[in-house]
Amino acid sequence: MDNELQGRSAHVAAIRERAEAEMRTIGVDKAFIGALVESFYGRVLTHPDLGPVFDARLAGRWPEHMEKMKRFWSAVAFRSGTYVGKPVQAHLGVANMAPELFPKWLELFAATLDEVAPNDEAKAWFMATAERIAQSLTLALFYNPAEDDPALKRS
Ligand code: HEM
Repeated sequence: MDNELQGRSAHVAAIRERAEAEMRTIGVDKAFIGALVESFYGRVLTHPDLGPVFDARLAGRWPEHMEKMKRFWSAVAFRSGTYVGKPVQAHLGVANMAPELFPKWLELFAATLDEVAPNDEAKAWFMATAERIAQSLTLALFYNPAEDDPALKRS
C-alpha cells in the first residue's frame, strides 16, 4: 500500500515537473497568470453581452473570483493542484448563460492574450486549452441527446 502511494506521488511530481518545464519553455510564469486573469476579467466587465451575465452572479464577490481563477489557471498550466472545484456545477447556476456567449468569451480571451502573452507559443497554448474547456463546458451545459437527430437537422 505504501509503495502504491509512493508510486502515485512520484507520478504526480513527474507530471508537475514536466508541466513546469513546458511552461518555462514558453515563457509562462505565475506573474503572467496574474496579469492574464486581471486583464481578461477587466475586459469581461466592459463587454456588452458578457459583462452583465458575469456581474449579476459575481457582484460583491469579484476579488474571490479573481483569486479562484488565478488558482484555476495555475493548476491547469503548472498542474499545481491549486484548484479543486466543479466548473460545470458552477456554471449551471449562472443566469442567462447561453451557448452563443462562448465564442465571445474566446474572442475576448484571444484579444487579452494578444496583449499580455509573452510570445505566440504561450498564446497558442492558452487558446487551445481554453477552447477545449469551452467545448467541454458547452457540451456539459447544453448538449441534449434528444435533439441530436440528423433528421431534425435536415428539416
Ligand atoms: C460564456 C462563457 C462563460 C460565462 C458567462 C462564465 C461565467 C462564470 C461565472 C459567472 C462564474 C462564477 C460562478 C460563481 O462563483 O457563482 C464562473 C466561474 C468559473 N468559470 Fe466561467 N464562464 C464562462 C466560460 C468559462 C470558460 C471557457 C472557462 C474555462 C476556460 C471558465 C472557467 C470557470 C471556472 C474554473 C470557474 C470557477 C468555478 C468554481 O466555482 O469552482 N468559464 N464562470
